[in-house]
Amino acid sequence: MRFATALAVAAATISGVTAQDTLLLGFNSGASDDTGKAKSQEDFEKEFRTAQNLQGAPGNFSAIRLYSNIQWETTDTPIAAFPAAIATNSKLLLGIWASGTDNIDNELKALNAAVEEYGTELTDLVVGLSVGSEDLYRVSEPGIRNEAGVGNSAEVIVEFIKTARERLADTSLKDVKITHVDTWTAWVNESNKAVIDEIDFLAVNAFPFYESELENTIDNAATLLSSALSATEAVAAGKDVWITETGWAYSGPDFGAAESTVDNAETYWKEVGCALFDKYNVFWYTLRDANPENEVKFAITNDLSTKPRFDLTCPEQQQDLPAPQNITNATTTPTSGGQNPTGADDAADPTGTGAGVATTVSTVNAMTMALSVVFAAAAWAL
Ligand SMILES: *[C@@H]1O[C@H](CO)[C@@H](O)[C@H](O)[C@H]1NC(C)=O
Ligand SMILES: *[C@@H]1O[C@H](CO)[C@@H](O)[C@H](O)[C@H]1NC(C)=O
Ligand SMILES: *[C@@H]1O[C@H](CO)[C@@H](O)[C@H](O)[C@H]1NC(C)=O
Ligand SMILES: *[C@@H]1O[C@H](CO)[C@@H](O)[C@H](O)[C@H]1NC(C)=O
Repeated sequence: MRFATALAVAAATISGVTAQDTLLLGFNSGASDDTGKAKSQEDFEKEFRTAQNLQGAPGNFSAIRLYSNIQWETTDTPIAAFPAAIATNSKLLLGIWASGTDNIDNELKALNAAVEEYGTELTDLVVGLSVGSEDLYRVSEPGIRNEAGVGNSAEVIVEFIKTARERLADTSLKDVKITHVDTWTAWVNESNKAVIDEIDFLAVNAFPFYESELENTIDNAATLLSSALSATEAVAAGKDVWITETGWAYSGPDFGAAESTVDNAETYWKEVGCALFDKYNVFWYTLRDANPENEVKFAITNDLSTKPRFDLTCPEQQQDLPAPQNITNATTTPTSGGQNPTGADDAADPTGTGAGVATTVSTVNAMTMALSVVFAAAAWAL
């Protein structure tokens, strides 16, 4: 018993986990459903309960990552995911939508209103706060080439992080760990180092499925993920790295050598997911698809059934991830073309995201974003 505890402590120390005693397992959750409608508290509750009760799952998927504090299609109403998380005792990685805007006032207003209303019932569930999601990827050369949509610069993200810290300083979220979510290609880009300096831990989205420039067969997927993670850790300056999005499409168009099939989605879960779940905080992509425009589908279950699309059990003799390769050369050259780790994922979830944009900025910006998402989805559908 004591030996096992010591081992657990050693393992936790090795993987650099400091923010909480046990690793987080969970899913991403957009603000709208896959018909584009706002999710109600009831919708969120059903989703969170399904996540915790998936048949065969190798753990309790009781953590949820949000993209916005704002209820879909409102200006600054707190998102209905908050009371749903309280009702289901789900941990929350909060998100502030930070693109297409020059301020995050409405995001902070919604969050502070929720903290006032729910108090520690809510704040005790909060495991972190991400200021932004893939903003840096979207303004990067590959993001622009892939028409990934409106993003924001490292300078602005740093300003937003400082603003968030200031404006939460007098609340029970004053010690919340702050991060920013982005693609591994954005993290390894030295232009974005100021963001790394400003945050408490890194959060990375990585999808070998979309890395059509590389050898992205399902057989090589674990190596690509391992390489992306290792490249991110190499620039993390000793800070924790959380995996905020990864997964494999089960249907829709193929990308390069990546084929979207249920079998491949299962293989990716077992070879990559199962190798990560006991070492990292992971938010799988995803339990429920969110964008009708995107033909690429990732949901591991249909209609929030607790019976998954494929077997979720992990192998008894779990293999570690394969050794990383140096793939940074493949993605940092402007001419490499097509490399699109998560661009399409953006289309998969303009979701929680658009809420802040559509209501806080000018209609022009909101339309620009909506259009680029549609264009992007259309381009990917080809
Ligand atoms: C899963 O975790 C949640 C949140 O901690 C908890 O309320 C629930 O009872 C757990 N479910 C199981 C089956 O352990
Ligand atoms: C690195 O970041 C800068 C600043 O956002 C961007 O202009 C550039 O395209 C990025 N490089 C790559 C290869 O993504
Ligand atoms: C990876 O390759 C790039 C480009 O060839 C090089 O600049 C970089 O130093 C390499 N990184 C490692 C960790 O070997
Ligand atoms: C990256 O560099 C390595 C080592 O030089 C090479 O083997 C690999 O083919 C390169 N990858 C790409 C996609 O060019």
